[in-house]
Amino acid sequence: MISSLDTLVHQAQEAMRVVETLPQWEAVKARFVGPQGLLTGCMKQMGALPAAEKPAMGKAINAVKGALEALFATALAAIEARILAAKVGPAIDPTLPLIEGHFGARHPLSQVKARVYSIFKSLGFSVADGTEVESEWACFDALNVPAGHPSRAEKDTYYFPQGASFPETQLKGAERLLLRTHTSSVQIRTMLAEKPPLKVVSIGRCFRRDTADATHSANFHQVESLCVDEKVTVVDMKAMLDHFLKAFFGPAVKTRFRPSFFPFTEPSFEVDMISPDLGKLSNQWIEILGCGRVNPAVLREVGLDPVKWSGYATGMGLERLAMIHYRVDDIRHFYQNDIRFLLPIA
Ligand code: DAH
Repeated sequence: MISSLDTLVHQAQEAMRVVETLPQWEAVKARFVGPQGLLTGCMKQMGALPAAEKPAMGKAINAVKGALEALFATALAAIEARILAAKVGPAIDPTLPLIEGHFGARHPLSQVKARVYSIFKSLGFSVADGTEVESEWACFDALNVPAGHPSRAEKDTYYFPQGASFPETQLKGAERLLLRTHTSSVQIRTMLAEKPPLKVVSIGRCFRRDTADATHSANFHQVESLCVDEKVTVVDMKAMLDHFLKAFFGPAVKTRFRPSFFPFTEPSFEVDMISPDLGKLSNQWIEILGCGRVNPAVLREVGLDPVKWSGYATGMGLERLAMIHYRVDDIRHFYQNDIRFLLPIA
């Protein structure tokens, strides 16, 4: 019987050699140490042995048992390692050289944002920040947007339920919170927080209940600028915008100002630009931004004397700047993570 015990280990080694899966491993294990297993059978036969042979036999069985357990454990570790390797995929060698062209880059909107900030900073503007969750007052009332104005309708603006609060957004009275529909609210927050003279620029997310199409997104970005000082004029604003658009789109850019209307500026303008260097958008007037002299009603609302202080404000779409610059014809491309948008732009 001891000699048949010796062959057990060898048999188990042979059987485990071809095992590839967990069920196969379990089956082989059961064949040797399960209730009906070969080793279990030997142990049962021990009872029939003469007492003198029992100790040697017990020792031999224990040795085989130990050897089998070690064998099964090694085989199990190998199977588990194989299963894990199949899950994580082929091994990665971090020392291999980069595949040419397959590295990431900053998102085009982030690149445009950085350029816009840098141009404004070169003109002495500092960066201001507001919150995306705003109060109805800062987004509309303080900006002289009248109560019944269409832009305030629930159809166009995302409101929070009455009574909702947000730690960073101060409410003036019992007004509702909303997701800001434009960055013009940053004008209000800035003038409340700092005394003029002020020159700030702010780029941030805005939200409108718009159905997405080639030129609309429910979530987009605006660039807001505000300058408040003594004797600021529309001429200052025009010079600043001319410089900005030339710095951003190239020196050949020409601008034209059309009278327009915004509740928070008076007079208000829309600015168009034209350039021979804009690919398929070359040599045609393109509407690019809104602006105007800060309405005295807005200054009064934040406690500034409009006789002493004057200012200008401008607002434009970050995506619009990016679309013209990169000749992208559908705003949705910016949000769909198409890998070509995430690669460096030559
Ligand atoms: N807030 C305006 C909008 O969302 C854009 C705008 C227009 C901002 C004129 C301004 C401005 O600061 O002066 O359409």
